[in-house]
Amino acid sequence: MSDNTQLNSKLDLLKIEIESHLDSYEDQNKIIAPNLNKAMKYSLMAGGKRIRSILAIHAGLMCGGDKKVLLDIAPCIELLHTYSLIHDDLPSMDNSDWRRGKKTCHKVHGEDIATLAGDALLTDAWDLLIEQCKINKISDSVIVDLIQTLSKSIGSYGMVAGQVLDLENENKRCNLETLNKIHEYKTGKLFIGSLLLGYKLSSSSKEEELALINYGKSFGMAFQITDDILDVTGTTQSLGKTAGLDETLNKSTFPSLLGLDKSRELAKDYVISGIDSLNIFTNSESKKNLINLLKYLLNRNS
Ligand code: IPE
Ligand code: IPE
Ligand code: MG
Ligand code: MG
Ligand code: MG
Repeated sequence: MSDNTQLNSKLDLLKIEIESHLDSYEDQNKIIAPNLNKAMKYSLMAGGKRIRSILAIHAGLMCGGDKKVLLDIAPCIELLHTYSLIHDDLPSMDNSDWRRGKKTCHKVHGEDIATLAGDALLTDAWDLLIEQCKINKISDSVIVDLIQTLSKSIGSYGMVAGQVLDLENENKRCNLETLNKIHEYKTGKLFIGSLLLGYKLSSSSKEEELALINYGKSFGMAFQITDDILDVTGTTQSLGKTAGLDETLNKSTFPSLLGLDKSRELAKDYVISGIDSLNIFTNSESKKNLINLLKYLLNRNS
């Protein structure tokens, strides 16, 4: 069995566990606004690779953390990520019709409810994080640190800032420095935040923190470069989201700036540097998974 097959079956198991955690959330609000709950669950439970939660769990395990604690808390990241996708697809942003193999949230539930479903997912993520931390007897100071880490990774210091730069660089050919910045913020920051969530639940070694930040930076770049490549080479069916949108919207991407071959080479370079960042960790199953997750980015088809 190849490393990748092994990785996939292990990841599938972890993904199922994450899904079952997610499925049990978000039920109380059914009574207050049933249509809001429907729209939130429609997008949250539509599948998705759950890669940010998986990274958080493996980073935590690699740093000596407890699997139950990590598995209870990490899935809250999926609420943050799903909110970002619902808003990214809105007509005022990427105007996409397909996501996770289904019609986008606004196509089914309307733009107003989809926007609010994103808002509610973003807000409920904190509630869920705090609730699961309390159940697992995480100290208040760690809870505050986790909230700050994640909020910095998605707000105006992180993902949202990157999304603004992405929109501002439509219909123009930006330079490589700007493109790196867009990818670093819109995609890389949440990967780093996810890894740090796992780390902060498991360790306080500054050396480990720095190594994970570097791994996350490389992961984010390799992930978004391959996302940009797949937008060109994939189909709406294989991706589960509308293909070819970057060209339609005249986005600044690596394939548009450097071409496909150079983009693939660059993604490989980031995979190599990401693996190097993990050198300080002793060998473990989780370290192997983090290495294989990076390598998988070069062959992914969705
Ligand atoms: C899509 O993320 C958004 C980007 C940062 C490119 P994913 O490719 O992780 O989306 P899902 O969660 O698997 O649907
Ligand atoms: C957006 O990047 C990343 C987010 C922060 C959601 P893209 O716009 O390329 O993501 P996709 O291709 O729609 O998933
Ligand atoms: Mg976008
Ligand atoms: Mg998009
Ligand atoms: Mg894309």
